[in-house]
Amino acid sequence: MKMSRNIVVLGIQWGDEGKGKVVDFLSKKAKYVVRCQGGNNAGHTLIYNDKRIVLHLIPSGILHSNIIPIIGNGVVLSPVELLKEIFLLEKEGINIRNRLILSPLCQLVLEYHVEMDIAREEFLGNKSIGTTGRGIGPAYEDKVARRGLRIIDLFDMDGLCLKLKDILNIYNFQLKFFYKRKSVSYDLILNNLINISEIIKDMVLDVTNLLRKVSKNNLFTIFEGAQGVLLDIDYGTYPYVTSSNTTIGGIITGTGISIRDIKYVLGVMKAYTTRVGFGPFPTELFDETGEYLCHAGNEYGSTTGRKRRVGWLDLVAVKKTIYSNSLSGICITKLDVLDKLKEIKICIDYRCTSNLSSYMLQSGMLPDKLEPVYEIIPGWQKSTCGTKCLNDLPLLALNYIRRLEDILGISIDFISTGPNREEIIILNERF
Ligand code: IMP
Repeated sequence: MKMSRNIVVLGIQWGDEGKGKVVDFLSKKAKYVVRCQGGNNAGHTLIYNDKRIVLHLIPSGILHSNIIPIIGNGVVLSPVELLKEIFLLEKEGINIRNRLILSPLCQLVLEYHVEMDIAREEFLGNKSIGTTGRGIGPAYEDKVARRGLRIIDLFDMDGLCLKLKDILNIYNFQLKFFYKRKSVSYDLILNNLINISEIIKDMVLDVTNLLRKVSKNNLFTIFEGAQGVLLDIDYGTYPYVTSSNTTIGGIITGTGISIRDIKYVLGVMKAYTTRVGFGPFPTELFDETGEYLCHAGNEYGSTTGRKRRVGWLDLVAVKKTIYSNSLSGICITKLDVLDKLKEIKICIDYRCTSNLSSYMLQSGMLPDKLEPVYEIIPGWQKSTCGTKCLNDLPLLALNYIRRLEDILGISIDFISTGPNREEIIILNERF
């Protein structure tokens, strides 16, 4: 029997680890790239004909014409935003309409979800989560409450009208009377859905069935995680998390792929740490080094443009992700951002007044209760930018990589040394 060639790419911090570039690099050999969870809260930047294109929903790797992008059932999909991305790509001459495949089971993100997300965040003031304001939380709430609209509902417009009326009543009541905001128009949503559904309907296919055949036929497929595992609704720094399972479980339930058909899981980890939005961040930097890393790493969100919070690499948080996500290897990204530093710190433990330190982090508790214990590594102070060969890395940079492997107990299989697709060192390619 042929073995499947499915690999999973997961961010193993708080998102923005550079997964998009890694998936893009791996896509040249792939046939399918599959999004499994999240929605247009994610973002990845493509450079095409010297133009910067930011995509939020359509999977990475689509600049390779060999790639068939798939959006699985775990994704909450805004039809309006999807259409915008399709048009954006078509304007650049990139054909996507005939390639993109959508699961009929994707939940829809509609205008009232966005309004509710924004209303709640404003209402919460300094207790807010710092969401992306894209309606992701409310859309997942509707899914769990068993009242959400899905792509499949577009095939039964009469039924959809009834469901939409019911749900909009609930939202408009809250928006108007509790949050004192304008209500959302039923006609606007319905007209949008009628116009868009004709385009979307042609893309709908039984994704799980397709993936079963793909796995049997040994076609190289990349399952692309969105956000990072520390933002997982169950395992992340709750309540400062996103509303989906960003861990390996989200890949399985978000597509229907069999766990037995996953050959390799790549964890993508930035050489330092960033986070957008609120929530605990034990190694956060508030000094010149933090400003330097933010500037050198261009740490501004691709979805909201927000300045990211920056800190040292937290190996305690990362180490916890290895076992439960079945990681096979790690890709470290943005190594070059550390090039000019005289010394580099890595967090190897937390000093804590309680023996529940890791649970405290998972409970969104305040960082001042967790004091990071750092190991100091000498910086290499030479450029690694664009390095493609391990032998060309400065010795101190190589020592740094080997030390990370020692502490984490897992091999670093790839090192990304710059923003461009080919700026990557392959240490082990085991798939
Ligand atoms: P939501 O996913 O918009 O509900 O936001 C919840 C939290 O997840 C906020 O702190 C966001 O900043 C964060 N978040 C959501 N998507 C991403 C992402 O793609 N990268 C990094 N952080 C994200």
